[in-house]
Amino acid sequence: MEILKWKVFPLMFLAISFLFLYTRAPTKQSNSDCSLLPYEHFWIQSKRIVTPHGVIEGAVEVKDGMIVSVVKAEDQLGPLGEHVMDYADAVVMPGLIDVHAHLDEPGRTEWEGFSSGTKAAAAGGITTLIDMPLNNYPSTVSEETLRLKVEAAQEKIYVDVGFWGGLVPENAFNLRALDNLLRAGALGLKSFMCPSGINDFPMTNSTHIMEGLHVLARYKRPLLVHAEMVLESEINSEHNDGSSDPRAYATYLKTRPPSWEEAAIRDLQGAIEETRVGGLVEGAHVHIVHLSDSGTSLELIKDAKRNGGSVSVETCPHYLAFSAEEIGDGDTRFKCSPPIRDEANRQKLWEALLDGNIDMLSSDHSPSIPALKLFEEGDFLRAWGGISSLQYVLPVTWTYGRKHGIDLVRLVALWSERPAKLAGQELKGAIVSGNHADIVVWEPEVDFELDENHSAYHKHPNNSAYMGKRLSGKVLSTFVRGNLVYNGGKHAPKACGVTILAR
Ligand SMILES: *[C@@H]1O[C@H](CO)[C@@H](O)[C@H](O)[C@H]1NC(C)=O
Ligand SMILES: *[C@@H]1O[C@H](CO)[C@@H](O)[C@H](O)[C@H]1NC(C)=O
Ligand SMILES: *[C@@H]1O[C@H](CO)[C@@H](O)[C@H](O)[C@H]1NC(C)=O
Ligand SMILES: [Zn+2]
Repeated sequence: MEILKWKVFPLMFLAISFLFLYTRAPTKQSNSDCSLLPYEHFWIQSKRIVTPHGVIEGAVEVKDGMIVSVVKAEDQLGPLGEHVMDYADAVVMPGLIDVHAHLDEPGRTEWEGFSSGTKAAAAGGITTLIDMPLNNYPSTVSEETLRLKVEAAQEKIYVDVGFWGGLVPENAFNLRALDNLLRAGALGLKSFMCPSGINDFPMTNSTHIMEGLHVLARYKRPLLVHAEMVLESEINSEHNDGSSDPRAYATYLKTRPPSWEEAAIRDLQGAIEETRVGGLVEGAHVHIVHLSDSGTSLELIKDAKRNGGSVSVETCPHYLAFSAEEIGDGDTRFKCSPPIRDEANRQKLWEALLDGNIDMLSSDHSPSIPALKLFEEGDFLRAWGGISSLQYVLPVTWTYGRKHGIDLVRLVALWSERPAKLAGQELKGAIVSGNHADIVVWEPEVDFELDENHSAYHKHPNNSAYMGKRLSGKVLSTFVRGNLVYNGGKHAPKACGVTILAR
C-alpha cells in the first residue's frame, strides 16, 4: 500500500500539471522538438529541492534554458506563474555530471554510440557527460580527431557532452599538437600508466606526464590518470601459468593487485607535488580516475593533498556496490580494471567517500559488444574489461549509499558540484540562479526491478552488471538547459544536447 501510494501520487500530480499546462493559452511556444514541454518559461515546484543551502520546499524558475530564480515556499508571495510543474515530494536536484564515460563513437558505434549512450544518460538523470578519448576510433589525441568526435555527436546527443583529449607518447613531446588539442576545446587530458587495451592509445610514463602537465598548467585544465602500473613480479594475464581457472573471479583479481594502483600513485607523487602553489606546473591538476584500492593507494593520495598538491580522486558505483566474494564463476559482466576488490575494501571505500577523502563519483561506463564479454566461455582473463552502467548510477549510488548514511546534499556534491568543477563547468552542478537549468526529478523511495522489462536505453542492456538487481530511486524527469529531454519513459523527439568545448 505504501509503495502504491508513492508510485501513484507523483504520477497523478504530473498528469494534473500537464493538463493544467495544455488547457491554458500558451504564452511563448517553443518552436522546436527539443523539449517535451512547449514552454520556455516555467516553474518546477517540489517539497524537496536540493540547493547549495540545503534541501528546501519551493520552486525553481526556468527561463530560456537558465535558472532565473529559486523561491522558498515560505518566501513566496502569491501564485508562481502560469506554467507550474508540481512534483509534490519528488526530489528536484542538479542533473548528474558524469566525468568518465566511454561512448565509443566514431569507430565503435556498435559498442554504444552518442545516441543510445545519451538516451540512457537522460533516462538516468545525467545531464552532462564528458566522453573519454579512447575506445572510439581513432582515439581523440589531436585537434583533427577531436573534430571527428564533435562532428559525430551532432544531432545525436540528448544531454550535453564534453570531451577529454588523450595524452599519449606520440603527442607528449609535441607542444604544438597538445596546444592544438586544448585550443580545439578538450576539457583536459587523460593518460594511462598501464596498457589501455586499445592499440592506438599507448601508455605514458612519468616523463610524458610531466610534459603534459606543463601544457595543461597554462590552460588550467586537469590531467586524468588511470593509475595502475604493471609489476612484473605478480602473475598477470599473459603469464597465467595455466594452473588457475580463468572462469574464477579470484584468478583475475590476483592479476591486478592493489600494489599496481599503489605503484602508479607513488610514481605520480613527484608530478603531483609540482602542481602546488609555486611548483613547476602550478595551475595544472591531477585527477585519479576510478580508484579501487581503499588501502595504501588512498593514503598516498591523502598525503599528496596534505602536501598542497592539486589532486582529486574519483571512484565508481561498481566498486561501492559489489565485492569480489559475490562475483560468480564466468560472470564477466563484472570484469573491469582496476578490479572490484573484497568486501573489506568496499566498506573502506564507503568510509572514504563519506569522509570526503574520495572527491567524486563517475560511471566509467565502458560498454562493448556482448561477443567481447565472452559470456559462453566465461574467461575472465580474455574477456573485455569494462562495466556497463550509465543509466543506473543514480539509483545504484542511492540504494547502496543509504545503508552508509548518504544524504541528498552529499549525493549532489559527489555527482554534480565537484564533477562540474573538475570539468570547468561553472554554470552547472548546482541549483542556483544564473546556472543552466540542468535538473533531475526523481523519487528516492520508489523501488524497481532491473529486469528484462525495465526500459534500458544502452545499446547492450544485458551486458550490465546491475541486471537482476532491485534498486531504489526512479527518475521521473530530466531537464537539460531547460529542455524536458526525458519524462516518464519518453525522450524528446529531437536530440538537442550541446557539445561542450573549452575556450
Ligand atoms: C618515457 O619514455 C620516453 C620515450 O617515449 C623516454 O624518453 C623517457 O626517458 C621515459 N621516461 C621514463 C621515466 O622512463
Ligand atoms: C516481463 O513481462 C512479461 C509480460 O508481462 C512477463 O511475462 C514476464 O514474466 C516479465 N518478466 C519478469 C522478469 O518479470
Ligand atoms: C536479454 O536477456 C533477456 C532475458 O535473458 C532476453 O530475453 C533478451 O533477448 C536479451 N536481449 C538481448 C538484446 O540480447
Ligand atoms: Zn574508463
